[in-house]
Amino acid sequence: MTIPPPPVSRRRLLTAGAVTGLGVAAGAGVRPAAASAADTSIGTAVVAFHGPRQSGVAEDPPAHASFLAFTLQAGTDRSALGRMMRLLTDDASRLTRGEPALGDTDATLAVLPARLTVTFGFGPGLYRAARLPAPIADLPAFPIDRLQDRWSGGDLLVQICADDPLTVAHAQRMIIKDARPFAAVRWVQIGFRRSPGVHAPEHTQRNVMGQLDGTANPRGAEIDPAVWNPDGSSTLVVRRIRAEMEAWDKLSVSDKENASGRRMDSGAPLSGAAEHDRPDFAAVDEFGLPKMPDFSHVTRARVEDPRLKILRRPYNYDGVPDARGVPDSGLIFAAYQRDIAEQYVPIQRRLAEKDLLNEWITPIGSAVFAVPPGCAEGGWIGEQVLT
Ligand code: HEM
Repeated sequence: MTIPPPPVSRRRLLTAGAVTGLGVAAGAGVRPAAASAADTSIGTAVVAFHGPRQSGVAEDPPAHASFLAFTLQAGTDRSALGRMMRLLTDDASRLTRGEPALGDTDATLAVLPARLTVTFGFGPGLYRAARLPAPIADLPAFPIDRLQDRWSGGDLLVQICADDPLTVAHAQRMIIKDARPFAAVRWVQIGFRRSPGVHAPEHTQRNVMGQLDGTANPRGAEIDPAVWNPDGSSTLVVRRIRAEMEAWDKLSVSDKENASGRRMDSGAPLSGAAEHDRPDFAAVDEFGLPKMPDFSHVTRARVEDPRLKILRRPYNYDGVPDARGVPDSGLIFAAYQRDIAEQYVPIQRRLAEKDLLNEWITPIGSAVFAVPPGCAEGGWIGEQVLT
């Protein structure tokens, strides 16, 4: 159910009062560069931006991501939000197909999209500013949380992903510039996964703790019932979870395996032999103990109902170690689901109550967002919500 959107013309964007100081002349003067014969298929790959659902959710995650959260400026009301989203949608639709943003001061950086996706999420504060009921609410507090303001909350989220970090950095700069009249940067979280070409695409990635991460994720046709509402909307939870690497390093491989419930090398469940074997929670060893420990992460997180699963799309982070060399590493744990209260919260409650992995991971940031439907060419993200 898509309301036909008003066309966004260049002129309208320029007269919307939102591009002040953008150096439009520079954009007009720079001849947009084009991909050259020397560029590879990884650099020139395009993920379609337009469609009934936003991109950046169901596709295989590119190697690099920036999660960019904004706080709205006082006075950014519903009509200003509409102007902002028209502008940011225009940026996203151009950059994702390898074209410079309007007024792009470095058009040469836009030509290699490398599977660039730009995905927008609306936080509870955006609905307050627009005087609309919010389809999402902050997560309840969990006893394991050690949340810091600097990684939490946000009125608007822009998730920028691509197989190249320079592409991500350029898109981020354009989006921040155009959001500036309406919103201030609240936090930025930069993450990475394996680079394209280092292993077969169907291979599960490893996280910074060395685990195969993503094995039991819904895939293919399983994604739809878990992630998308009939109108093309979804929701996103972003948790920054620090990995206590010094303590993790002290564990034996079998201790690490008991914490997750899966083998470190193959990712197989402790009750099975191969990565994609179904965990058997009734299987016991020669001492009569469950092969899948009841406190393991997988045992506690397990969901069988396809409509209640979540789509995990985590990125690793690895910041600057402290003076003693203690790493600043962990996961930007991003999860997409139809409904946070129905799907995410029950899993998180079970994990907060009992999960051996909690000894080595600490949630330090948390934010929730509604993910509005996608838009058609000429439309804008949020048009169903804000008009
Ligand atoms: C740093 C934090 C975390 C780490 C290192 C981690 C690691 C893992 C690993 C290694 C697996 C097994 C392989 C797989 O299926 O991907 C797994 C599974 C899973 N995790 Fe996590 N996880 C973390 C946080 C979370 C959080 C916050 C949630 C949700 C609240 C979650 C939900 C799940 C689910 C639903 C599964 C699949 C369980 C199944 O059906 O087999 N994880 N995680």
